Amino acid sequence: MTAQQFHERVSELDLTGRSFLTIHDFSPAEVRALLDLATALKVAQKRREPHAVLAGRAVAMIFMKTSTRTRVSFEIGIEQLGAQPMFLSANDVQLRVGETIKDTANVMSRYVDCLMIRTFAQKDVDDLAKYGQIPVINGLTDTHHPCQGMADALTIREHCGKLEGAKLVYSGDGNNVAHSLAEVGAKTGMRVVICTPEGYGPDMDIIARAQADAAQTGATIELTSDLQAGVEGADVIYTDTFTSMGQEAEHDVRLAALKAYQVDMDLVRRAGPQVKVMHCLPAHWGEEITEEVLYSPNSVVFDQAENRLHAQKAIMAAVIR
Ligand code: CP
Ligand code: NVA
Repeated sequence: MTAQQFHERVSELDLTGRSFLTIHDFSPAEVRALLDLATALKVAQKRREPHAVLAGRAVAMIFMKTSTRTRVSFEIGIEQLGAQPMFLSANDVQLRVGETIKDTANVMSRYVDCLMIRTFAQKDVDDLAKYGQIPVINGLTDTHHPCQGMADALTIREHCGKLEGAKLVYSGDGNNVAHSLAEVGAKTGMRVVICTPEGYGPDMDIIARAQADAAQTGATIELTSDLQAGVEGADVIYTDTFTSMGQEAEHDVRLAALKAYQVDMDLVRRAGPQVKVMHCLPAHWGEEITEEVLYSPNSVVFDQAENRLHAQKAIMAAVIR
């Protein structure tokens, strides 16, 4: 596809100027169109075809929490789209020492064409979008990780051949990643089963919203604490850290409470040879997953990590003016 064809495709999507705050905000058709654009951009990048559809633009990235994948995939992706990336750690911005979200949003809107932020409260990301005049992309909050959810859907579609009816079993902490998986599963017709121990379940408002979305697409979003029953017939087993960023003081308590939800080879065998194992990374060997599973033939975690690049390029190409 030529750069001109990409321009045409992106303008057909009609998402220009929209912020990417949660997957719930996008219709099933929009989510699919973004995934299709991600696939087209992936093909173009592999073939070294030009796709600098954002030439002359600039994207700032604010990280109030640490990152490997998000930082590197955004920075490289922005460059590949022909735009200029700017990395700002918590130490580089006045936000950390009390400048308001509203003022930050107004100032950044005068310099750059898009703002990606990783931070704690979802409300801060929502407010940046509300007060600024440029699209804001959520690079992870305490409650959502929508760029991860999009990359995950792309990976499942590649490895399972489809999303409709694919059974994804999430094991572990009902966290930001679990929420975004429920949201993307609801939009794309998946069967999502979230297995958590009592006290570590997902946010029920987010799940209720996802279940309402699921009713429109034929998806199902189930919650259970019975991992052994839940995993039967899974196309995908997914896990994430038991201790998310900001919860470090609770590490030992969380590990004890969640240890039965570790993804090990016994669980993979129980699901069957077809099952793909996913993890958003970083992984903690011996906690939520074993090294053996992570490097087993069932694991698609590094394809999944790569797909962050392609999924985010699609989001940026679609929303930036
Ligand atoms: N999965 C993910 O977001 O990784 P990073 O924290 O390294 O960005
Ligand atoms: N749930 C994890 C995801 C890291 C990419 C966290 O928030 O720390």
